[in-house]
Amino acid sequence: MVAARAPDRVDTGVGRSRRGAAADERASCVPRPALLYLGMTSPLHLTPLDRALSRLGRAMASVAGSPPASRPSPASSLTDGDLSAPQRADAAALMRVNHVGEVCAQALYEGQAMSTRDPALRRHLQRAAAEEADHLAWTRQRIDELGGRPSLLNPLWYAGAFALGVVAGRAGDRWSLGFVAETERQVEAHLEGHLQRLPAEDERSRAVLARMRDDEVAHGQAAVRLGAAELPGPVKSVMRASAGVMTTVAHYL
Ligand SMILES: [Fe+2]
Ligand SMILES: [Fe+2]
Repeated sequence: MVAARAPDRVDTGVGRSRRGAAADERASCVPRPALLYLGMTSPLHLTPLDRALSRLGRAMASVAGSPPASRPSPASSLTDGDLSAPQRADAAALMRVNHVGEVCAQALYEGQAMSTRDPALRRHLQRAAAEEADHLAWTRQRIDELGGRPSLLNPLWYAGAFALGVVAGRAGDRWSLGFVAETERQVEAHLEGHLQRLPAEDERSRAVLARMRDDEVAHGQAAVRLGAAELPGPVKSVMRASAGVMTTVAHYL
């Protein structure tokens, strides 16, 4: 059973008045550090150079470091299970794949937010990206705990996903939202698969993935509510095939 989170965390008022959107922004439960990280605190005062540098900073943080999480890890209250060395290595490889997925999520949302002309949709995408930043931090933390390492190809994954996000954004807002909805559906299925594959003893990794799955479901549902177009079947197939290549390579590299 998938429990979707309350929609007001990601629905920031696309299509509402500016006053309503501003009120939503004030009422948002996304903490200020995450908004600062996303460059969302005073967009009217940012020059194009500021925005470019801010974008570059977020890209570097996603690829090389661990951006600040706005929520504690779902694993924080759990003790580490008694895993054998092969189990730890296998779990670390799975979490590396999921970390790559979150690097790509940051890049996709960045590209899509940059491409839309609708300020409310841009805010919505940036808030979803803030939750994805939590996923990025949680998976990275779990990789470290398991003694693994992030993907060596993260700069490549980020660049490719950013380009894809720009293309999706340029296609128009309904298609861009459709891309979000389909991506989140595929990610949900992927996470369900990893929850089956992780060692039963690895409760910390399982808690992280279960929470991520719930967040991804909420992101997908929000995109549908905002008017996502249904992508053509061949596009969905290409997306699935591309994700398959990424997950296979990231398992080892
Ligand atoms: Fe995510
Ligand atoms: Fe998501």
